Amino acid sequence: MKTSIRQLLESTEFDRQITLQGWVRNKRGNKNVGFLAINDGSSIKSIQVVVEMSTISDELWAKVTVGSCLSILGTLTQSQGSEQAVELQAQTIEVLGEAHPEEYPIQPKAHSFEFLRENAHLRIRTNTFGAVFRVRHALAFAIHQYFNDHGFFYWNSPIITGSDAEGAGEMFRVTTLDMRNLPKNEDGSIDFKQDFFAKSTHLTVSGQLEGELGALGLGLIYTFGPTFRAENSNTSRHLAEFWMIEPEMAFYDAKDNQDLAEDFVKYLFKYVLQKCPDDMKFLDERFQKENQGKKKEEQSEFGLLEKLNFVLDHDFARVTYTEAIDILYNSKANKKKKFKYPVEWGIDLQSEHERYLVEQHFKKPVIVTDYPKEIKAFYMKLNDDGKTVRAMDILVPGIGEMIGGSQREENYDKLLGRMQEMGIDPQELSWYLDTRKFGTAPHSGFGLGFERLVQFVTGMGNIRDVIPFPRTPQNAEF
Ligand code: 4AD
Ligand code: MG
Repeated sequence: MKTSIRQLLESTEFDRQITLQGWVRNKRGNKNVGFLAINDGSSIKSIQVVVEMSTISDELWAKVTVGSCLSILGTLTQSQGSEQAVELQAQTIEVLGEAHPEEYPIQPKAHSFEFLRENAHLRIRTNTFGAVFRVRHALAFAIHQYFNDHGFFYWNSPIITGSDAEGAGEMFRVTTLDMRNLPKNEDGSIDFKQDFFAKSTHLTVSGQLEGELGALGLGLIYTFGPTFRAENSNTSRHLAEFWMIEPEMAFYDAKDNQDLAEDFVKYLFKYVLQKCPDDMKFLDERFQKENQGKKKEEQSEFGLLEKLNFVLDHDFARVTYTEAIDILYNSKANKKKKFKYPVEWGIDLQSEHERYLVEQHFKKPVIVTDYPKEIKAFYMKLNDDGKTVRAMDILVPGIGEMIGGSQREENYDKLLGRMQEMGIDPQELSWYLDTRKFGTAPHSGFGLGFERLVQFVTGMGNIRDVIPFPRTPQNAEF
């Protein structure tokens, strides 16, 4: 087995010969001795390599540049410097891959995130993106851990779907038809019977409906997969391809659902704070620096670590939609006409409203429940008032909505009624309705947007910077 730089930095077995490989992050020195910072991605920390200039030719040393990849044989020693405990005294250096300084775009200086997005194939080698993607991994691992520990089964809903029932957003079509020569029906419409699946198909916007099928046999399931929405929203919180975690639980009511979501999210924060202290410390410092450069009114009053710890130490606020509308209506912001969208019962909460609730009013995550049925999906359980449904959205500072979910309508007739009201063809979803016909059960679930979670935990301002290769309108590079 190879030893990573992360392991070497924790090692206390000195004066042994080792070989390490990695990329040069920094190069400095004088005519007698050179210092290299070598990073292999295993940790935010680089290892210091000390090179006696008398042992290396000028020609070889010139090829050792920032971004080049080296294999170094040397002796692991206790460092003399105060910056690090361990360093490597190089004996031989082999350049595995050069990175010409005039061409290599990632230099040891501050690059803008826009620039790094254009170089997304190389940005992985920066401190910030290394930290973000290691934390992203830790969160993914913690999600599986949490559900496994709580008796949930990992469930895979299809990615190609033949139903467009969720109504969560515009869908991407999946087809093998020849675009230049589409088969037509007599009425001029496209004849999808000749398409690959003999019907019209799309990429899924959510794994929920098939997740419900799973829960109504396995009891507790969760999905964790890619979802696709062809919304033309160019915001710092929207992707066209994003990952979603969707637990679905038989016998859970709306309150059980909220309790699970809160416990789950807090577990994830705690996990990352414990398992990724170096990356989180780095991201916290980055966040503070960025925050100081912002306008007063846009500044966060908390640091990143402070914010996560604060969330851990406090219960989420829980309010109904109706209470939330009252708070917004009576707010100073509303009286001073600060909201762009008017506040009245029945509106879909806009991002400005969500942010007011979490950032100004409650100053912590908020679970908003019982929304008007008109603005939510057909499958949400109708309340006795006939006007609202048992929905929940979890809103967090800086992001807005991170989770959306609900108790599901388990009554066959009511569900059918809602589908008809909303113009959804019951024939298309006969398999979904079957679960309400045969052994129906109360059940609930929610969807957590993975990138919004990573954004919240890493403090990154733009969702495009927490997924390796973002898909957004006009952009499918790499
Ligand atoms: O609120 P949404 O649309 O809910 C559903 O899809 C339900 N089927 C979930 C369920 O009950 N099983 O999406 C869930 C979450 C949102 O709260 C948000 O975090 C994220 O998915 N999300 C997006 N993330 C990035 N880019 C987008 N375009 C997103 N749209 C939703
Ligand atoms: Mg939603």
